[in-house]
Amino acid sequence: MKPQVFGQIKKEYDVFYKDLLRNGKLPLWSTGKGFWGGVIADEVYEAFKRINLHKHKTFIDLGSGDGKVVLIAALFCKRAVGIEMDNELFRKAMEMQIKLNIPNALFYNNDFYDHSIRDFDVVFTYPDTPMHRGLEKKLLNELTGKLVHYGHHFHPQNLKEEDKFLVNGNLFTVYSR
Ligand SMILES: C[S@@+](CC[C@H](N)C(=O)[O-])C[C@H]1O[C@@H](n2cnc3c(N)ncnc32)[C@H](O)[C@@H]1O
Repeated sequence: MKPQVFGQIKKEYDVFYKDLLRNGKLPLWSTGKGFWGGVIADEVYEAFKRINLHKHKTFIDLGSGDGKVVLIAALFCKRAVGIEMDNELFRKAMEMQIKLNIPNALFYNNDFYDHSIRDFDVVFTYPDTPMHRGLEKKLLNELTGKLVHYGHHFHPQNLKEEDKFLVNGNLFTVYSR
């Protein structure tokens, strides 16, 4: 769980968000096919502890944005993967990975519909579109592990809810097929 590295992750991302704000940009933007907005690092770290993420080997974030969730997951799992179609966010994730020296994370700059999620122990989503537009179908076909869903919005309708809890008022729900 490496609390010291987690502290460094938080610090580096805070610098990134402050730089954006200083340049008149909010840390959220449209990415063409989707919309980027980041999670709160402390909430995700707490949730990963609560679901015993360290007992799982592989993790994937579908639409990994600036890579923060993947780098935090890499503190718990053997391999953490992120897929993001936005070039700028993908580059930022790689830059952070190198800066923070976290070797067991892997980022891809493309569409997550082109990647199979079979055999991943934990699949994470902070969705930017309703599930019925395609993601739920992919999950129903390919999910072999657990889905960790962040947020009150865009929940799947046909997966089995296994657990749900709030961290600072934000909802985490764990599903399986
Ligand atoms: C709400 S953000 C979540 C970012 C990150 N997971 C986090 O929690 O901090 C959703 C991200 O998914 C990306 N995205 C949406 N559809 C995608 C697709 N089909 N393939 C790859 N990335 C996608 C968007 O570009 C955006 O960065």
